[in-house]
Amino acid sequence: MLSKSRKVGIIGAGNVGSTVAFILAMKGSCHEIVLRDNKIDIAKGKALDMSQAAAAARSHTIVSVADTPEKLKGCDVVVITAGSPRKPGMSRDDLLLINGEITREVVNDIKTYAPDAIIITVSNPLDVITYAALKVSGFDRSKVIGMAGILDSSRMASFIHEKLGYGAGQIRASVIGGHGDDMVPLPSYSTVAGVPLTDLLTEKEIDEIVDRTRHGGAEIVSYLKTGSAYYAPAKSTAIMVESILNDTKQIYSCATMLQGEYGYENVVCGVPVMMGAGGAEKIIEVTLNQCEKKMFKKSVQSVQDLIDVLDKNKFFGKKKK
Ligand code: LAC
Repeated sequence: MLSKSRKVGIIGAGNVGSTVAFILAMKGSCHEIVLRDNKIDIAKGKALDMSQAAAAARSHTIVSVADTPEKLKGCDVVVITAGSPRKPGMSRDDLLLINGEITREVVNDIKTYAPDAIIITVSNPLDVITYAALKVSGFDRSKVIGMAGILDSSRMASFIHEKLGYGAGQIRASVIGGHGDDMVPLPSYSTVAGVPLTDLLTEKEIDEIVDRTRHGGAEIVSYLKTGSAYYAPAKSTAIMVESILNDTKQIYSCATMLQGEYGYENVVCGVPVMMGAGGAEKIIEVTLNQCEKKMFKKSVQSVQDLIDVLDKNKFFGKKKK
């Protein structure tokens, strides 16, 4: 059931959204990309710039602006990167409620104009936003997936390389759990060319990598000062888009709704999923040891706490406007 239109919608033309578009356009991964943003002129400028880059790259991908939600029609995949950054005086909960409402509006547009699209959420707080998008859409859980596990695993892989000084491109790292400080890096499932990490590094070195992975996003913010990472988040998102468009059936760690898997119900968390034309077609349950199970539980609880904040604020009771 590979789609012929190969059209991708990207909501939010900020650093992450526009870099996702750029990666897809340069590779010719899809036929068409529509960028949608409140700042319409910014979206127009970026779309023009990227169309010209596509011409230089001899790519067939057409990049344009969706100035109205109708232009999302026919999208196979819609990526949501729209969200408000945290402003001074704003609590995390305030930010959650604001981004929750932005997600509601965007998802209602997708529901109306691209009801068959698969939604990839990227906005933070990632797992609870994915949960909100899923509830607002009413879509099957396989069709609303959050990006984060690929990003966190890539960060861990790059830190492993930095520590080892070799193995670049051969490292497979695995991170599950929510996209927060208590995410669950899994050294026991991380390898360099098939060699277990535990045979290459000491426990202390591995602990340092785990800790740095958990704070990988903040480390970049501390340098950029006014923004957060976007190259690795965008590349991770593009990988998900491509696995859907090409029906690759590859396994990636993604945020997905758990319905009994890992012993949890009605909560979104990062776990390995098999990605294909149908979205997250299969959830893989990896065996966790006692310590990993405990960390996973804590991470799930952090996501649950945020879902409870939305619930307390009657987010889920509101009807479509
Ligand atoms: C990061 C934030 C933006 O991990 O989620 O970079």
